[in-house]
Amino acid sequence: MADKELLLAIETSCDETAAALVKVEAGRLRLVSNVVATQHEFHERFGGIVPEIAARRHAEVLQAIIAEALERAGAGFADLNAVAVVNGPGLIGSLVVGVAAAKAIALAREIPLIGVNHLEAHIYSAFLPEAGEPPNFPLLALIASGGHTHLVLMSEHGRFEVVGRTRDDAAGEAFDKAGKLLGLEYPGGPALAALADSTKETGVEFPIADIQPPKPPQRAWDFSFSGTKTALARHVRELSVEQVEKQKTALAAGFQSAVVRALVERTFSAAEELEVESLVVVGGVACNQRLRDELSARAREVRIGLHIPPPWLCTDNAAMVASAAYHKVTAKTSAGAGTPALQVPPDRLDLDCDSSLPLRSWG
Ligand code: KG4
Ligand code: ZN
Repeated sequence: MADKELLLAIETSCDETAAALVKVEAGRLRLVSNVVATQHEFHERFGGIVPEIAARRHAEVLQAIIAEALERAGAGFADLNAVAVVNGPGLIGSLVVGVAAAKAIALAREIPLIGVNHLEAHIYSAFLPEAGEPPNFPLLALIASGGHTHLVLMSEHGRFEVVGRTRDDAAGEAFDKAGKLLGLEYPGGPALAALADSTKETGVEFPIADIQPPKPPQRAWDFSFSGTKTALARHVRELSVEQVEKQKTALAAGFQSAVVRALVERTFSAAEELEVESLVVVGGVACNQRLRDELSARAREVRIGLHIPPPWLCTDNAAMVASAAYHKVTAKTSAGAGTPALQVPPDRLDLDCDSSLPLRSWG
């Protein structure tokens, strides 16, 4: 993208309706506005995300969220040079709302439309100026969110190799389910973390999955969290309601400690074996302070550059979508030059939504 160009990004893949505007200035991105509307209160009484409610809520508020992002940037639709949107993976009804809006804007304004994978968006949150110095390649990215727990190796911009993933629950999902078992407010992740951090005690000890490291040339540093969750469920089942209430803090502390340990161990085992220069940690679970502290201590020990964006960039947002879109259209990968945004035909509206869109390399 050329200097002074303005890009609108939209994210509606799960339960956050988000829009952001970025401007290209001196070859760098500047985040001009970033608006996120969370739907937590609408899903709370169901104890989890209800896809139909999520889609309906996106349809109700997206227009206003885009308008607010434009207003905060002092811009209008006529100022836009491109529009980017997440087209997968995610909840299909939710994805459709964002993609339809992005297509309408692209068609009406005759500007390019850029499809972005939600996972690449999370990784590219680390390349926004607000996340500090950009990471160096080769890098290993840990994406830990409510829907995914992936380890992705990148040798350069747009080159992704998934070298680990969860075999069952995502880390955030495990936190959420554990929170529910302990009767904590929704979503369970932040609530459980707050409770766990309120004590200095180590808490109840929980097992973590003992998955053997891959034998070369295999590259699969997988995770598994369901055993830890089942151990907590069993523990809770054996206690009376009063006992659970009494032990809640110790159970939360032990559970957080087990999940964090599993994430840190696997991630550093892969990072060291793959000899990466940087480690990028993103997704909602990267907000977890205990995880941030343990990753920092380990990274200092083994001298790997650690990049964890601020919490507001770790949970779902559209700024990360803009960052991925910008790099996608400007990157020169070894497979060839990326397509300059303004050369993508504005009438190419054949962007499909895919609820299980795989992470593919660019070029
Ligand atoms: O990336 P994200 O906003 O949405 C998805 O793409 O899933 O991640 C949301 C997840 C939820 O499971 C939430 O409980 C978890 O991130 N989360 C946390 C913390 N803050 C958010 N998990 C543990 N500790 C936290 N502080
Ligand atoms: Zn996400």
